[in-house]
Amino acid sequence: MELKIKNVCCIGAGFVGGPTMAVMSKFCKEIIFNVVDINQKRIDDWNNEDLDKLPVYEPGLKEIVSKTRNENLFFSTNVKESIKNADMIFISVNTPTKKSGLGAGKASDLKWVENCAREVSSNAIGHTIVVEKSTLPVKTAEVIQKILNSANQNNKKETSSFDVLSNPEFLAEGTAIKDLEYPDRVLIGGENKEAMLALSQMYQNWVPKKNILFTNIWSSELAKLTSNAFLAQRISSINSISAICEVTGADIREVSRAIGRDSRIGSKFLESGPGFGGSCFKKDILNLVYLSEYFGLMEVARFWEEVVNINTWHQSRITKIVVEKLFGSISQKKIVVLGFAFKANTNDTRESAAIKICKDLIMEGAELVIHDPKVNSIQIENDLQVKPSSENYCQDENYINNQLGKWRFSNNLNIFENAHAVLVLTEWEEYKSIKWDYVVKKMVKPAWVFDSRSIVNVDLVKKAGFNLWRVGDGIQKE
Ligand SMILES: NC(=O)c1ccc[n+]([C@@H]2O[C@H](COP(=O)([O-])OP(=O)(O)OC[C@H]3O[C@@H](n4cnc5c(N)ncnc54)[C@H](O)[C@@H]3O)[C@@H](O)[C@H]2O)c1
Repeated sequence: MELKIKNVCCIGAGFVGGPTMAVMSKFCKEIIFNVVDINQKRIDDWNNEDLDKLPVYEPGLKEIVSKTRNENLFFSTNVKESIKNADMIFISVNTPTKKSGLGAGKASDLKWVENCAREVSSNAIGHTIVVEKSTLPVKTAEVIQKILNSANQNNKKETSSFDVLSNPEFLAEGTAIKDLEYPDRVLIGGENKEAMLALSQMYQNWVPKKNILFTNIWSSELAKLTSNAFLAQRISSINSISAICEVTGADIREVSRAIGRDSRIGSKFLESGPGFGGSCFKKDILNLVYLSEYFGLMEVARFWEEVVNINTWHQSRITKIVVEKLFGSISQKKIVVLGFAFKANTNDTRESAAIKICKDLIMEGAELVIHDPKVNSIQIENDLQVKPSSENYCQDENYINNQLGKWRFSNNLNIFENAHAVLVLTEWEEYKSIKWDYVVKKMVKPAWVFDSRSIVNVDLVKKAGFNLWRVGDGIQKE
């Protein structure tokens, strides 16, 4: 029997739920997509008339939302109602690392997933296919199935039955729409062939059949964690080599190019930067570490843990270099920080290298002026856990008496006056065209550019009279 999906509910309107359902609504016009969330503000933002105020910034997203919103794509907080009406439900809620209790610091916190499953269990009617979109530890589908199966014991009037599928999302923020429209592969893990085919039918509206892979549910869950672990490992590997380049005279860009041309290795995820960020890499690797420890595979656990450790070390290495180059102290020195998002083309700052680096610089007493084209001041304050200060830093008595530094936000690039250094942390396109010969005149000499993303034009920066440090640059520029 072929199951035909007519009404989809997605629980969680975040960086994954929103863009994923937007793309699905574009290609599956005959299906209604209800994206629901408990966060009223987020839903209001998704419904904002001004498409520049959507809660997620992704190139190409607003164009799709403008066409499908209120046609076959709806955003609301009507969680119960949407579950009732759905024949397929995507669970796309957050699964951060547990902060306390068993597995704290490593295991995923599944309380949001569990709440979702309970909500589905008590409200679904008839047969419902439940799809895990969130990244989950191996065997979570079993937990979800158990909670769902308890539905009929909850004195519910209507009977219900469920199939659970795993359909992990491989999109990368910043290129989410492209990744969703042209996925390398779509993974569908499950036991029930009909349910798997029903989901596959939806994808086949735009994904070639050969790119849709069927696996068992556990392989699908583990494949997602492994995929992120392998990508993060490449970044940690190349960042560790950047440190060797700096002391030997090799150039990390040349090394990357040379090894990336090896077809067995390939060129992606080989660009050295300030360390990986984003909500997924660290949490998914730590999840893998926890899983390995749980099964007594301690060597496997240590192997993957080191990928995270070297990333943290690399971030602190950048702060140390800035302090060292500015004569061992950055107290009361103005430093312009370019970029706060964990990478370009996203407004997401979760686990951004900028958070640790800016916190460390503030601890060293620096005055930061932070610019980012898509991240706002409130988000930065939440991340740094330090209030921004007024523009008149140095007249602030508290500041003079206090060793701790300060920060303020700017949404324009008119911020170089009296700065000692510029630190590039995110590879936004607009930073590539900064007029360095103009900027240098405003700054305190010797003026420094620290480029952790290798995006500035070396010749122009040097010609302007700057001292330049670039990640993985073994050639002395002083
Ligand atoms: N961000 C990425 O790049 C990415 C990529 C692939 C997979 N994933 C995975 O997808 C999942 C979601 O990630 P995200 O970045 O979209 O997270 P997010 O925090 O941006 O969004 C999750 C949303 O779920 C909502 N929510 C939580 N509990 C709820 C409930 N009971 N009912 C209704 N709404 C609820 C939250 O309010 C939030 O808006 C995670 O498991 C993540 O690991 C993320």
